Order: sequence, then C-alpha cells, then structure tokens
Amino acid sequence: MKKNFLNTFKTPFFYYIESYGCQMNISDTEIIISILSKNGFLLTNNLKKAHIILLNTCAIRKKAEQSIKNRLDNLRYLKSNNQKIPLFGILGCLSKSEKYSNLIDFSIGPNSYRRIPDIIRLVMMNDEKKIKSILLSENQNETYESISPSPSIKKITTFLSITRGCDNMCTFCIVPFTRGRERSSSPYSIIKECENLYEKGYKEVTLLGQNVDSYLWFGGGLKKQIKKIDNNNEKIIDFSKLLDLLASKIPFMRIRFSTSNPHDMSDKVIEVISKHSNICKHIHLPVQSGSNKILKLMNRKYTREKYLSLIQKIKSIIPECSISHDIITGFCNEEEEDHLETISLMNKVKYDYGYMFSYSPRPGTYAYKKLKDNVPENIKKRRLKEIIDLQRIHSIFRMKKYLGTIQEVLIEGKSKKNNQDWYGRNTQNIVVVFPKKLSKIGETVFVKIINCTSATLIGRIDD
Ligand code: 5AD
Ligand code: SF4
Repeated sequence: MKKNFLNTFKTPFFYYIESYGCQMNISDTEIIISILSKNGFLLTNNLKKAHIILLNTCAIRKKAEQSIKNRLDNLRYLKSNNQKIPLFGILGCLSKSEKYSNLIDFSIGPNSYRRIPDIIRLVMMNDEKKIKSILLSENQNETYESISPSPSIKKITTFLSITRGCDNMCTFCIVPFTRGRERSSSPYSIIKECENLYEKGYKEVTLLGQNVDSYLWFGGGLKKQIKKIDNNNEKIIDFSKLLDLLASKIPFMRIRFSTSNPHDMSDKVIEVISKHSNICKHIHLPVQSGSNKILKLMNRKYTREKYLSLIQKIKSIIPECSISHDIITGFCNEEEEDHLETISLMNKVKYDYGYMFSYSPRPGTYAYKKLKDNVPENIKKRRLKEIIDLQRIHSIFRMKKYLGTIQEVLIEGKSKKNNQDWYGRNTQNIVVVFPKKLSKIGETVFVKIINCTSATLIGRIDD
C-alpha cells in the first residue's frame, strides 16, 4: 500500500526536515527520519527539491512559537497558486496549539510519529475523516523504544530518550500538555540501543527525559499507574539502577543525562555517578527561582533550602561535578525581594553555566489560567539581564579553576572558529578547543588548559 502510493510519483518522494527547541526534539527528528526512510521516503537538505517540508516544533516559550511562525512566512513562497506540493507538516509540541497558518497541510504531535507515513498518504488523497480518526487515537504510552534513531549526519555523540512526557505539572510549563503523561522505556531496550550505538562508533550518549531522575520501569505503561513503589522489588528499575547497569555494561561509552528535577534526584543516583568513571560529572539541575514563595507558585515541590542541601550533597560526594541551571525571571507575583533571593542563591551555588528566560505565559497551563502575568515586561528584562550578567561572572570564576590543569576531552569535531582546531568536551560538559596535531575525531585526549573565556576552555596537547 505504502509502496504503491510512493510509486505514483515519477521521481522519488523527498522530504526536508528542520528541528527547533530542546535536545529531545533533535532526538525525535532522528526517530522521524528513521520512520520515514523505512517507508521509502528520501531525506533531502534541498528545500526546493522537497515534496514534503516538515518542521519539528517547540512550544515551550512564546519566542520559540514566534520563530516557527516567522520561518513559515519565509517558506510561503515555495507554495504558490494553491498547488498541493510541497506539503507542509508541523510536528512536535506546537502541533497541539490552535491552527495558526493556512500553509499547514497536517499537524502531528509527539506521540504519533509512527503514523506520519499514513497521514502523508491520506493528505494526498484528501481523506480528512481518516486523518482525524488517526489523530484522535494518539498512543499515550508511546516510547518509540523499538525504533533506532537515524541521525542525518555522522556524529560521535548522540541522544537517547529514556522517559517521555512529564507528571510534574510545574504551573508555567506546557510540556505535560504537549507530550502527555510520564512513561519510561524498558531498560532492556535502552541497554540494547546503547550497545548498538557503541558498535556503530558512538562514544557518548546523553539519556534524555523531561525528568530523567523520575525514570521507573515496572513492566511498561504510564508512571501514574504504579500505586506504591516497593523499593525491595528487584524487578523495578529506577534511574540509579538504570545508570549503574548501563555504565557497567558499556564501560567505554561516556554517559550523560538531562534533565534532573531537584525534587526527584536521589542519593543513590549521586552515588552511582561518583562510582563510575564513564558517567560524566555534570548535572543539569534547573532551580527556576531562588524564592520559596515563587517555587511554591511554580509547584516545584522543593524549597530553596532543600535545593541548596542537594547541591551540598552532590559537591561533597562528587567535588569535581559541574552544575548548570535553568532560571525563569518575572514569574507571576515575583517581587524585587524574590528576585534578590534568586541572586543570592546563584551567589551561593556559583553555577558553571545556565539557561535563563523571562516568563512567558503558555495557554493551557495552570499559571496561564489562574495566575496573573503581573510583572511588567521592562522589569522582567532588567531582572533577566541581571542574572545573565551574574552568571557570566560565575562562569568565568569556574572556568579559571581549570587553568593549568589537564582535561580529558572527547574530540567531537572541528572548531567553528578555526579549521586547525578541534572542539570537544570534558566530563563537566565544558567545551574545550585546542590545535589538532595528530589527534582524530572520536579519540579521547589529554589537553592542557592555557586560557579561557566564560564559555570555552582553550588548550593544547603536549608532545
Ligand atoms: N516561560 C519561560 N520559561 C519557561 N520554561 C519552561 N516554560 C517556560 C515559560 N512558560 C523554561 C524553564 C525550563 C526550560 C526548559 O524552559 O526554565 O526548565
Ligand atoms: Fe515542565 Fe516541570 Fe516537567 Fe520540567 S519538570 S518538563 S518544567 S512540568
């Protein structure tokens, strides 16, 4: 059926895909490429040659949404005079939002990617009824665990989703609505996939999830279906057991993970990270705010004090561990004293780096419906600038500690600035740039650090 459909075109059926947003979206794009190529579609990076143009979108902030709208406006010229081809498809989180462009032929959410080939076929046949019924029968348990991601370019490092969806319901966040309830892939499929990746030449895998520390395998299905967690049940695999298993089974693969919600990070996870040299010493631990009042309004389920004691625990067990953050400024009811609490928390932690945003209300979330977006835009921007400037000072402080040290770096590729230099990262996830000499991509080398900026270490390999 699928082959017949594609054979109705004289030339092969080409698709073009662009990815926006988080690492999970980039990883999902690799799954989509895998699904489409198994169904006979051919990937092209030439927009003009494409019969289908796919945008894998992000809805996390208003800005992300705006950049997709602008991109669609730029691409409009490709489809003049009401012609059918190219088809425009919106994938990912934005597909769930209201229809915002008459250019779009179909929208497919993060749980329905297996149906993309069917939907394209039905769109070509104008079968609106069947498309609707497919989209209504979304699989809320989908983990894509049987599908090996197909990257469009050869790389040394890759991502693998181990949990999907999120049950945390932070009041500002749209993810639980766009990606659904939390579920975990089976540990057996994760281990098998990582072994596969290692055999294919990958040297580093980042385990992905909106909240990886909440990973829990008890035979499949949604996490909310497990009533009570029996810690002595050998069959139940939590994140610490998964990390331990993976690190032992594939000892030469570097393992990273992201994102950790402070509420869910256990002591056992910290111990497993410290035990294995192939688990990278970096934790992305979004705090969002340093004020207890705001954390409560955000429904983050931890306090400033709990967060700081978690940081202390991490640093006491793994002193070399780097910590990064996400912070939102100007959330509903944030007053100057709350902002100062965030600044004081940053001063206590002195993060290695971080991602900072000003709050944008997302339709459908609790905050959008029940709280007032009452911090004026100019104040949000001023507070954002203050924390960005402070983070820069802290980043430089952390980077200077590497000066004169020897760092173990996995070479990932050519430096963007200088063709004669490699770039790679150390275990703390800090980018290191250095002259190539005789080293090759994929090798782990020891680099002496001689200089730094706020985001990059500059080094050399001694003979
Ligand atoms: N406004 C601003 N930032 C947001 N984030 C998530 N939702 C919003 C929002 N509505 C940020 C959080 C999260 C990161 C991925 O994006 O800091 O950790
Ligand atoms: Fe969103 Fe909170 Fe889940 Fe992160 S943990 S995806 S911020 S709801």
